[in-house]
Amino acid sequence: MARPLISPSILSSDFAQLGQEVRAIDAAGADWIHIDVMDGHFVPNLTIGPGVVKALRPHTGKPFDVHLMISPVDHFLDAFAEAGADIITVHPEAGPHLHRTIQRIKALGKKAGVSLNPATPAKMLDYVLEEIDLVLVMSVNPGFGGQKFITSQLAKIEAIANRVAKQDLAVDIEVDGGIDALTAPRAIDAGASVLVAGTAAFRGGPDHYSANIAALRGGA
Ligand code: DX5
Ligand code: ZN
Repeated sequence: MARPLISPSILSSDFAQLGQEVRAIDAAGADWIHIDVMDGHFVPNLTIGPGVVKALRPHTGKPFDVHLMISPVDHFLDAFAEAGADIITVHPEAGPHLHRTIQRIKALGKKAGVSLNPATPAKMLDYVLEEIDLVLVMSVNPGFGGQKFITSQLAKIEAIANRVAKQDLAVDIEVDGGIDALTAPRAIDAGASVLVAGTAAFRGGPDHYSANIAALRGGA
């Protein structure tokens, strides 16, 4: 089994000291930094915008994995790219022209991801899978950290992983929501290559971050 990449979600960090938190989770071994952007419309919560992403950029060299839960999304793509996003992930429901949105992300020189809500079928990837770098499978309904992993999403991960392998594509499969030391191996077995973790990564404060990340990797 390949070593999974760990993308801690700063949604579960201390917002009063975000720069420090990003430095600490980087030092603890995070591969990417997952940034959850919520608009209070596409999802029932509000988080951070491009200004905060820009302010965090000098605090780490790790890729910024920006998960946009905003609708309409298109007019924010340039701002997040300029702020320092490396991977920009959108939901198919967040605009009328998914293919165009992906083209714009790539034209900005960024990696493009598509995220599927728990009730959104893998079929939504038809005609775009060949164009993207990442599929983000939501294993909770987006909006909040600390929710319970929805096990039905394992079959979706498996179906997407099979398709990616069959077509020999270089597409990462990332899973987001309710990932901890128990659910992580199940997601990896199903075919996930990148694990997002908020609660499980930031639990206990900075002294615990290394152990938290090691636990997500299966103690490795
Ligand atoms: C939910 C977010 C997740 C969330 C994960 O809308 O997309 O990234 O922060 O948090 P945990 O790991 O606590 O489920
Ligand atoms: Zn997320």
